[in-house]
Amino acid sequence: MKARLNIAAAALIVGAIALSGCAGGTPAASSAGGGDAANGLNDRGPITYVQGKDNSNVVRPLLDKWNALHPDQIVTFKEQSDNADQQHDDLVQRFQAKATDYDVVDVDVVWTAEFAAKGWLQPLKDTMAVDTSKMLPATVKTATYKGTLYAAPQTSDGGILYYRKDLVPTPPKTWDEMMGMCSIAKANNIGCYAGQFAKYEGLTVNVAEAINTAGGTIVGEDGKPTLDTADAKTGLNNLAAAYKDGNIPTEGITYQEEQGRQAFEDGKLLFLRNWPYVYNLAKADGASTVKDTFGIAPLPGKDGPGASSLGGHNLAVSVYSKNKATAKDFLAFMTSEETEKFYATQGSLAPVLTSLYDDPALVAQLPYLPVLKTSIENAVARPVTPFYPAVTKAIQDNAYSAIKGEKSVDAALADMQNAIASAGSQ
Ligand code: GLC
Repeated sequence: MKARLNIAAAALIVGAIALSGCAGGTPAASSAGGGDAANGLNDRGPITYVQGKDNSNVVRPLLDKWNALHPDQIVTFKEQSDNADQQHDDLVQRFQAKATDYDVVDVDVVWTAEFAAKGWLQPLKDTMAVDTSKMLPATVKTATYKGTLYAAPQTSDGGILYYRKDLVPTPPKTWDEMMGMCSIAKANNIGCYAGQFAKYEGLTVNVAEAINTAGGTIVGEDGKPTLDTADAKTGLNNLAAAYKDGNIPTEGITYQEEQGRQAFEDGKLLFLRNWPYVYNLAKADGASTVKDTFGIAPLPGKDGPGASSLGGHNLAVSVYSKNKATAKDFLAFMTSEETEKFYATQGSLAPVLTSLYDDPALVAQLPYLPVLKTSIENAVARPVTPFYPAVTKAIQDNAYSAIKGEKSVDAALADMQNAIASAGSQ
């Protein structure tokens, strides 16, 4: 109680300072250490954990375990939809309302800069510090903004090619080889290739992979768009041509991760680009018809393996949380070695702890781990900017029109270039 009073008094003082120095609603305005970030640091009690749909059914068992051990600090699960953009918008709405009912939130790697710049994430330093020394450096980078850690890396993600090894004994190494194999799909009356081509974050992931794989880039080191190149054109054109030819089936333009997984498990696709979580589900799902007939390979590239987009999810504490001491312990629990192993074995989710990729027992169970580690280490980050929503919208809108054949690839890239330039990159 005493602690609460002291904290309340401190909050008033800090709040007054924050108000007097308030710089308005523009990103990059908030100070990382003051204001709401000073509240609740020593307080414990019930909290809420927020993340997108738990496709792999790993969250509830973990919460049951935590709740049994912490009856006074119960964690309630707020499960969002399975669409990355909807998850993002829900978080933004709650943060803008300074909601205190979202304590620990799952932050997609591409949202760190925006949320941190807006001052919504508790800096993980001092009493809130998290040990990241045993984690893959690429994953720590995704949780860091301007030198400060804002989230605890939880699961990483790298693209994988799922294929029907009963129909294609040796998986394609290049995009052109894969397109050449589409005759096999045709002969078997199934779709050839799908990824995530609906208009949402998954499309940005797939377009970035197509462009990076062709040797292009979306932005340069300085954050400025670099889409006016022949390589970028080849990349986007590969997707547009595949859709036009029917190598990406018509319904593929509506697929997010889950619809693609479903189609693949139903035996309706020869190749699928998806994340590692699909592996366990395709093997164990009662309804999966490809349990024993699918294989996995690196994404096909230009001359060898393709460039995956770096995905993943990190756990952050909302600056508006009232029970940050509990939130901090929960972060440690959710990113512990035991939990990371559970994610990997139960959900085939990519760990962030480097050692697990070389753990012989784990590799025996999940033989793709070494391939996945290489994929993640070499994966290309999507643009890092507080203005990411405008950047990803520019990519999604224009690439979607180009793939559907409603806009030429040249016009789509030019419009993307302009829209990213005006979105800014600070
Ligand atoms: C996965 C990735 C994430 C990405 C999303 C797109 O959840 O981990 O980084 O943004 O898919 O749908």
